[in-house]
Amino acid sequence: MVDWVTLELDIANFDDALFEHHLRRARSSGTRFTTMAELGDAPEHRRALYDLNKTCSSDIPGRGLFYTYDEYVTQRIDVATYDPRGVIVALQDFAWIGMSATSLRPDDGYAFAEMTGVLAPHRGKGLSLALKLLAIRFARSSGYQRLVAFHHPGNHAAIAMNRRLGFADAVPDQARQVS
Ligand SMILES: CC(C)(COP(=O)(O)OP(=O)(O)OC[C@H]1O[C@@H](n2cnc3c(N)ncnc32)[C@H](O)[C@@H]1OP(=O)(O)O)[C@@H](O)C(=O)NCCC(=O)NCCS
Repeated sequence: MVDWVTLELDIANFDDALFEHHLRRARSSGTRFTTMAELGDAPEHRRALYDLNKTCSSDIPGRGLFYTYDEYVTQRIDVATYDPRGVIVALQDFAWIGMSATSLRPDDGYAFAEMTGVLAPHRGKGLSLALKLLAIRFARSSGYQRLVAFHHPGNHAAIAMNRRLGFADAVPDQARQVS
């Protein structure tokens, strides 16, 4: 049985200023940040998000088979928790190179970090930190104080990324809520 790692960020104590330089650096090297809401709900945008998510998810330990496109639409986009304002996308020219998707969980009292991914050639440059900074701002501006993430214990890069942002181990009650 996999012992999933559940992490939580206290948004009220998150200091944006510590991570601003990652956003500035990405922008100055030609990366543009937008959201699915700004891009518009067009079939080509859904497909590009799917392709990006699928490629990045192939590096998640224990992920198994990814959704077909139709499954992705019905199970990840056309669902109540999908919020296009919370799906941050990083673009270089017309290429989709990174994403961070956050959903709002009013019944649970937290925002949930659904998926952050950066295409392999663009990793190691702070892009995930820039994406998560924008994701945290989305959660905060939506009135949430807690951002929860859930990881396979073998996903060292993702766990380290979240800890770098200040995520800490969630208490067992919260872990049970998302499992
Ligand atoms: C996890 C992932 C998003 C990180 O993206 P990235 O843009 O390369 O990460 P960054 O360059 O912003 O690094 C941020 C921090 O994460 C940690 N980190 C990133 N890659 C790491 C690795 N391979 N090993 C250990 N720590 C790593 C570091 O702490 C780093 O901060 P530092 O460089 O100041 O030490 C990327 O590896 C990825 O897309 N993986 C596949 C998809 C996935 O597993 N997503 C998470 C599941 S939701």
